[in-house]
Amino acid sequence: MSETLQELLAELEQFGQQNDAAISERPRRMLNITRDTGEFLSVLVQATNAQRVLEIGTSNGYSTLWLAQAVQRIGGHVTTVELSEFKLEMAARNFDRSGLTKVITQHRGEAGSMLESLDDACFDLLFLDSKRSDYVHWWPNIQRVLRQGGLLVVDNATSHADEMADFMALVSADPGFTTCTVPVGNGEFLATRFM
Ligand SMILES: C[S@@+](CC[C@H](N)C(=O)[O-])C[C@H]1O[C@@H](n2cnc3c(N)ncnc32)[C@H](O)[C@@H]1O
Repeated sequence: MSETLQELLAELEQFGQQNDAAISERPRRMLNITRDTGEFLSVLVQATNAQRVLEIGTSNGYSTLWLAQAVQRIGGHVTTVELSEFKLEMAARNFDRSGLTKVITQHRGEAGSMLESLDDACFDLLFLDSKRSDYVHWWPNIQRVLRQGGLLVVDNATSHADEMADFMALVSADPGFTTCTVPVGNGEFLATRFM
């Protein structure tokens, strides 16, 4: 990873922590993944050769940058969706600064509608980090857009276990998926599609 990107990630970590400690209004909080979750995502992308990555919940682009530097190494691309104009603009500025814009497509809009519009099996890895109560409703389309052998990664599996319980139970009960929860960061729920 370049020194410039390392510095940008460190700056965003500090900004996210200070901003979120000072601001209680949720739409203005960054709610970034932890650094070790970024490292974990980077390894997952490269180990599974996930060339087509979809992220739901960009915020200011911190997690996107971890995904982007990983897909860049394997000749892949990351698409990230966000509905807050405020955060879309912050992310766009961070992507410009990172030098990774060529491997990132920013989608402005509501993720549920976007998922509806996508082709079957069009992503290798989907990182879900958005409003947790939506996940159960999105599940049919999440399943559909993941290719066979594809991987779903969901943040906050342990930090918000109550809010995640219905979704994790739904996915775990699906015979087409194998699941586990990994104690990295806020807890990552993984599900891979084998049918
Ligand atoms: C936890 S934050 C994402 C943090 C980001 N992944 C990171 O680690 O840097 C969740 C984001 O999802 C966005 N969001 C919530 N509901 C959404 C929806 N239905 N469609 C698109 N974005 C949504 C919020 O505006 C917020 O920025």
